[in-house]
Amino acid sequence: MDYHSIYESWRADPEKFWMDAAKNIDWHKKPTFALNHSNAPLYEWYTDSFVNTCFNAVDRHVKNGRADQTAIIYDSPVTEKQLHLTYKDLLEKTSLLAGALINKGITKGDRVIIYMPMVPEAIIAMLACARIGAIHSVVFGGFASNELAVRIDDAQPKTILAASCGIEPGRIIEYKPLIDEAIELSEHKPECVVILQRPEAQASLMPGRDFDWEEFQLDAKPADCVMVEGNHPAYILYTSGTTGAPKGVVRPTAGHLVALHWSMKNIYDVDPGDVFWAASDVGWVVGHSYICYAPLIHGNTSVLFEGKPVGTPDAGTFWRVISEHKVKSFFTAPTAFRAIKREDPEGKFKSKYDLSCLKALYLAGERADPDTIYWAQNLLGVPVIDHWWQTETGWTIVGNPMGIEALPIKVGSPSVPMPGYDVRILDNDGKELPKGELGAVAIKLPLPPGTLPTLWNAEERFKNSYLSTFPGFYETGDAGLIDDDGYLYIMARTDDVINVAGHRLSTGAMEEALSNHSDVAECAVIGVSDQLKGQVPLGFLCLTNGVNRPHKEIVDECIQLVRDQIGPVASFKLATVVARLPKTRSGKILRATMVKIADNQEFKMPATIDDPTILDEIKEALIALGYAN
Ligand code: COA
Ligand code: AMP
Repeated sequence: MDYHSIYESWRADPEKFWMDAAKNIDWHKKPTFALNHSNAPLYEWYTDSFVNTCFNAVDRHVKNGRADQTAIIYDSPVTEKQLHLTYKDLLEKTSLLAGALINKGITKGDRVIIYMPMVPEAIIAMLACARIGAIHSVVFGGFASNELAVRIDDAQPKTILAASCGIEPGRIIEYKPLIDEAIELSEHKPECVVILQRPEAQASLMPGRDFDWEEFQLDAKPADCVMVEGNHPAYILYTSGTTGAPKGVVRPTAGHLVALHWSMKNIYDVDPGDVFWAASDVGWVVGHSYICYAPLIHGNTSVLFEGKPVGTPDAGTFWRVISEHKVKSFFTAPTAFRAIKREDPEGKFKSKYDLSCLKALYLAGERADPDTIYWAQNLLGVPVIDHWWQTETGWTIVGNPMGIEALPIKVGSPSVPMPGYDVRILDNDGKELPKGELGAVAIKLPLPPGTLPTLWNAEERFKNSYLSTFPGFYETGDAGLIDDDGYLYIMARTDDVINVAGHRLSTGAMEEALSNHSDVAECAVIGVSDQLKGQVPLGFLCLTNGVNRPHKEIVDECIQLVRDQIGPVASFKLATVVARLPKTRSGKILRATMVKIADNQEFKMPATIDDPTILDEIKEALIALGYAN
């Protein structure tokens, strides 16, 4: 069947579509219906089923003849190590860690924070939690203690599973001091911390609270899978919203299994046994869905890469990994390709490797700029597929379903909606806009299986953030348009979220950090265009009356403050002192106008602006920083 027929078959009978898709999952108790709308506008899927994620990702493959197939290829140029774990290995290691967690009293529904770099134990930890129905929350290693503390207080984990360090090119990031500080800062105190001691850094352990990874498992017995209800949360993943408080996206077990399984063949065109590689990090949604869960649920081999596109050791690393491990489908963020292109514009490194195994490159996480797409297409000679989704959805909203049919690629568009998603463009009043007109991108409810049913402990926030602006729709936070062929174009965010090197960050959170500086009276952070990272944050600081220290000193302290409070991943390196911020008469800071000035785009003078001359001052400050030229 072609894409249109499949999409129409979903539209005609969504219940049948998702019950059919559910046949690919091994259920302890099969669902008798797919959508539960009894609590609309909050929807859930497969609520009368019982199932286990780890069973579907690991055990069933061992039972069904894939025991000796490699499940995970760990490729770590930063430690010069490689390791192949078969499905059988994964089963043994996961069951043992699950048993050790049970010994510590962790049971179904308890939360476990995982703060680990890209090592196999991170995947084992996620699966071990899923095995016993514990709800994991992975926190990205580039976040500072303060961000970890916020997540500890929100998720209230019994345990933290962590490693002694992460490895960034040229430096070792010791995780244990960050964890200790986070626990110091948080109100909730986890009962224990389990540390994987990596040879690159030994963490000191606090007797009674901290345990060594190996010792923790010494007396453990392998644990069986605990079956959970279809709507039991598989995990919580925090993502940036408009304010400093991150949103805890809840991922329900059954819908997650069904949707991710469906996506592997239909979107990424891989069959069980094929090698799939998502070059991301387990701390992001791409890592959850496409390094850990989807490839394993589908019986693929997944590459776990601990390195960077450049500098580990060179701009040919990606090509080495693809050819060495015979990767068929490769997924990363456009920024990774921009980094390679900058180092090796002619793609010379590629000639050293045979990439005939590679069938397609998939890009997501940020806007894929046409230059990068053309460069990648020319270099690799395979289709370059942009696709658009979010932490909230967990899988593709709009893409090009290569396993169904390779639709014509329109550069600049991630293509068309996947079954389950009815995407509309709405004006401010929620009225649908005609084809070609720019508006808010919204999805008609219900969202499909696998997407978030709510936010962790924050149902009202979920409703306010996503469901209240356009009743009957999910508000994506993106603006865009749909053309006459039904192709979507994502143009911008409608909120204060920015995308830095494919990492989603909140300018609001950075403003909160900056306002903690005693000399800062007021501030605004905007995302400005950046050739490598897509966007980078830039801060405007208004100082408290009477402060007359050198501005450079204050700016440097502010940059350090954001690094300490949010983390290096924020890439906050640009800030400037200004006398005033442009505002509306009602006091709203005109961030969008400042972005336009910085990026040299035309803009309309906001009718409600209080004092237009401030924009000239902002422009001058931006020019001094190398923007707005
Ligand atoms: N732990 C600790 N620090 C981390 C970290 C981690 N897991 N990940 C990143 N950082 C640090 C970096 O060392 C860097 O610190 P610095 O300011 O001292 O140099 C900072 O956070 C910013 O990191 P990053 O955004 O990765 O920038 P970079 O300049 O080191 O690398 C790219 C640029 C493009 C090579 C890199 O961003 C990249 O590989 N991106 C791929 C995109 C991706 O995986 N996206 C995920 C969603 S699909
Ligand atoms: P995250 O939740 O980190 O995956 O970020 C989701 C946001 O990243 C989306 O809401 C978009 O703003 C942006 N994004 C993700 N993929 C794309 C894409 N293919 N094109 C344009 N923007 C994208």
